[in-house]
Amino acid sequence: MSAFDFSSALVPVTGGASGIGFAICKHLRAAGATPLLLDYNAPQLEAALAELYPAESAAKYGYLLDVSSAETVSGIFDAIRDTHGPVTHAVANAGIVWRGNVMDMTDEEWRRVIDVNVNGAFYTCRAAARHMKENGGGSILTMASIGGLQTKAERAAYTSSKAALVQMTRAFAVDLAEDNIRVNCIAPGLINTPIQEAQAAKMGPEFIAKLTQRVAMKRYGSTDEIANVALFLLSDLASYMTGETVVVDGGMSIHYG
Ligand SMILES: NC(=O)c1ccc[n+]([C@@H]2O[C@H](COP(=O)([O-])OP(=O)(O)OC[C@H]3O[C@@H](n4cnc5c(N)ncnc54)[C@H](O)[C@@H]3O)[C@@H](O)[C@H]2O)c1
Repeated sequence: MSAFDFSSALVPVTGGASGIGFAICKHLRAAGATPLLLDYNAPQLEAALAELYPAESAAKYGYLLDVSSAETVSGIFDAIRDTHGPVTHAVANAGIVWRGNVMDMTDEEWRRVIDVNVNGAFYTCRAAARHMKENGGGSILTMASIGGLQTKAERAAYTSSKAALVQMTRAFAVDLAEDNIRVNCIAPGLINTPIQEAQAAKMGPEFIAKLTQRVAMKRYGSTDEIANVALFLLSDLASYMTGETVVVDGGMSIHYG
């Protein structure tokens, strides 16, 4: 059996209906896995499911949820086990951004970013690990950002939340190693997703040129380029990696320019 065998993989992916999460789902499906899309955007979820699965069965591969509710996340993982069987891998990818000066941020805005990006990932990893433990092991991936390793103006909550995710990945990895569960993280740089495209359209070509100038490879990354690394980390090809955060940013964070 190949170390890249996903043929019996059942993989919940939070934020699976758009951008990076959806690309990971597409790559998983192409590799023979059964990705399950967990998302809170109903129309987006429906469209993504329709693209991934034949219409008649699509609904059973999608779960509408807000990852910031512990009860909901744990209930959905139980429902997944009842409908599909044991979860073998999981991707805690759902995340939101808040932009603005730290002094203008309200308590609610701060809490919402932490609730989705940190607590949501915690509930997802914990629920997945509980199920994997019963089944002899598994592999989990979290989605941080280079903003978890560095920070920048007007991203206080986002970069704090992603830094927490880097450390949380290590903590899960240490606590779950004896259960044969690996936990790794990707820290993407500038990736071409609907959110980035909307920002690019709003800010204009000059802003984008300045931004990509900061990337050693002078371009945005694609969601496929994140998905490739995601599948590697999820697979047994990465069998001796755990607690690791892999930066995938075209050389943005190593670049002094
Ligand atoms: N695009 C980038 O440049 C970039 C860079 C670094 C890190 N990231 C991280 O990658 C992840 C995916 O981002 P993306 O760019 O694909 O964004 P996206 O907005 O295209 O996708 C995020 C998905 O998460 C879902 N979601 C958001 N909050 C949710 C919640 N509370 N419950 C359930 N689902 C929820 C959204 O509906 C959406 O489908 C995020 O964690 C983001 O922080 C993205």
